Amino acid sequence: MAAVDLQAVLDGIAATLAPRAAAGAGKVADYIPALARVPAAHFGIALCTRDGTQAAAGDAHQPFSIQSISKLFTLTLAMQTLEDGEIWQRIGREPSGNPFNSLVQLESERGVPRNPFINAGAIAVADRLVTHGDAKRRLLELLSGLCGETIAFDEEVAASEAATGYRNIALANFMKSFQRIDNPVEAALDMYFHQCSVAMSCAQVARAAGYLCRDGLHPLDDSSQVVTERQARRLNALMLTCGTYDAAGEFAYRIGLPCKSGVGGGIVAVVPDTLSLCVWSPGLDHSGNSALGMEALELFVGATGLSVF
Ligand code: DON
Repeated sequence: MAAVDLQAVLDGIAATLAPRAAAGAGKVADYIPALARVPAAHFGIALCTRDGTQAAAGDAHQPFSIQSISKLFTLTLAMQTLEDGEIWQRIGREPSGNPFNSLVQLESERGVPRNPFINAGAIAVADRLVTHGDAKRRLLELLSGLCGETIAFDEEVAASEAATGYRNIALANFMKSFQRIDNPVEAALDMYFHQCSVAMSCAQVARAAGYLCRDGLHPLDDSSQVVTERQARRLNALMLTCGTYDAAGEFAYRIGLPCKSGVGGGIVAVVPDTLSLCVWSPGLDHSGNSALGMEALELFVGATGLSVF
């Protein structure tokens, strides 16, 4: 590991993949109108090592919509605030094998989402956070503290999601019909749509996720724990098994790292005890994961030999 020039690895990956982003690899998410306007021709990658060394290439400093990557941070917030029972009584921890916005399992499983990283599970987490108050402010404080810069919602994206989020509205109402949502569905969804709209760059996401490669230790403060060591391990386990939806098996096979993706085209990945990284390219594959992002991670583990296996 010490012998690997990480900056050179990132430069090489960006040089290989940026031209393909420019040629329009993958398909930009268009079911959220505000996301459809993002040009496909972006590629960024950034990492932060356990000891704080940073490296970046391509569009690594350009903010993008983190979308479902936010589910990692809201679950972190829930772990900080809530008893285990309050989180896991109504949310499972199994991969779904279904698309992120699927409704099918919720009926036979009586409104209990398979895991906190599919949309239904994240809406259930958002509901718990709303119950404990000030959820939106606490999320922005967590993110701003983790990367040492002010992080904000993109209100245009949040409004666009609220105006067209028919499936998410259906998921929330369906869970509510099983008494799995405590607050008015509008309140849980307002939190969910806002968390998805958070704008961050690859460099910021890679830094913010640093606690996951530092046994829960704050990325910028050696004297403070974001979560306990055990909670950090569990977050990584959930990312590996559930973080990329119905492609989680393929990600484990081809990349072998805990990852969490979003339909904005970002993917955050963790090499426990070593580094956190984030890649962004808006063109998606059929599972809603960044097409070039997945290739970039595959190139990264190939070049560095880093893997949890
Ligand atoms: O709820 C939605 O559909 C989006 N706001 C987020 C989905 C998402 O990012 C799924 N990830 N691949």
